[in-house]
Amino acid sequence: MVIESRAPSCEANRSRDAGGIILGIESTAHTFSIGWVDGLGVPGKSVSAFVRPVKGGIHPREAADHHAKHAGNILQELLDNDVQLQDVKAIAFSQGPGLGPCLRIGASVARSLAIQLNVPLVGVNHCVAHIEVGRERCDCDDPVLLYASGGNTQVIARLDGKYRVLGETLDIGIGNMLDKFAREQGIPFPGGPKIESLALEWLHDNPDPSLEGLELPYAVQGMDLAFSGVLNAALNLVEKGVPLPAVCWSLQEHTFAACVEVAERAMAHAGKDELLLGGGVACNERLRSMCQIMATSRDSTSHVPEKFLCIDNGSMIATLGRLQLLWGSETPLDESGVRQDLRTDETPILWN
Ligand code: ATP
Ligand code: FE2
Repeated sequence: MVIESRAPSCEANRSRDAGGIILGIESTAHTFSIGWVDGLGVPGKSVSAFVRPVKGGIHPREAADHHAKHAGNILQELLDNDVQLQDVKAIAFSQGPGLGPCLRIGASVARSLAIQLNVPLVGVNHCVAHIEVGRERCDCDDPVLLYASGGNTQVIARLDGKYRVLGETLDIGIGNMLDKFAREQGIPFPGGPKIESLALEWLHDNPDPSLEGLELPYAVQGMDLAFSGVLNAALNLVEKGVPLPAVCWSLQEHTFAACVEVAERAMAHAGKDELLLGGGVACNERLRSMCQIMATSRDSTSHVPEKFLCIDNGSMIATLGRLQLLWGSETPLDESGVRQDLRTDETPILWN
């Protein structure tokens, strides 16, 4: 395998003008969102609606019904306030991976708009969109990416024209684990932000905290990760009467350290000196600071985009759609079917 020594600078991407607005439609799971970027890739606002299951996890059909119900109003809100239809140059949409019924709603909206406006359709890989929005926003060219979201936990680097997964979760995504732990405590979806605030509460009351009595299994297996064992052990601690804020703190410390350890090893193996965080869990300040500490300790830099671009949003889909459009990777209608199991490393990286 030929390995690119270094990815080209993403600065060059910004000097190319797509000549109009790119709309991006996100509908992989719990979020339906339409956002946009201008011709130079500067993100505009995303308008979003979120499925918030009262009980249990996300039901794909119910989520799809939610997306179908909100799609029209979301588009209208964007058109009323931000975007003129005549300025739209292309329609990008999440083609996969994700929940089939949800993906199909986004794809149908995208196809209808592209046909109606007579503009190109661009199907994009949701995971790669999390990466590219970070590269574009943070000015980092060739990072190792720690992609930590609800459904995914992957450590990725660009090698030989694709984003290669160097390590990943062998069971559930880290965000999914946090959401499940939270749900068992009666905390509604998404659980990650509440776990973060409970952990802070524990730190506030215990400025010099110890892990004694709060030990959990460590989730690293070679370059891979696993979270269901940690989840069960954390639930057991609560059952035994350990205070919930203490368990939340310990849960974050153990699982974030595991992710950062794999990311550090990936940086060493792949010879990269930039780390980029992406996905919804990248909103977490403790994870951000662990990444910063690790990167600084190896004379490297750590980057993370604004929080509204870490969670699922239409602007990140538009960001990748613009790059694909500029590099001639449009999606003909007959190839615009959704790809539920699309892998990060299936998408050729044609752009800088
Ligand atoms: P993907 O399809 O990429 O897996 P997703 O459907 O999980 O994405 P995202 O919006 O990328 O959606 O991530 C949502 C996840 O992020 C949820 O699990 C949520 O609990 C978690 N999350 C959001 N904010 C925080 C936070 N501050 N701390 C920890 N986790 C967070
Ligand atoms: Fe996501």
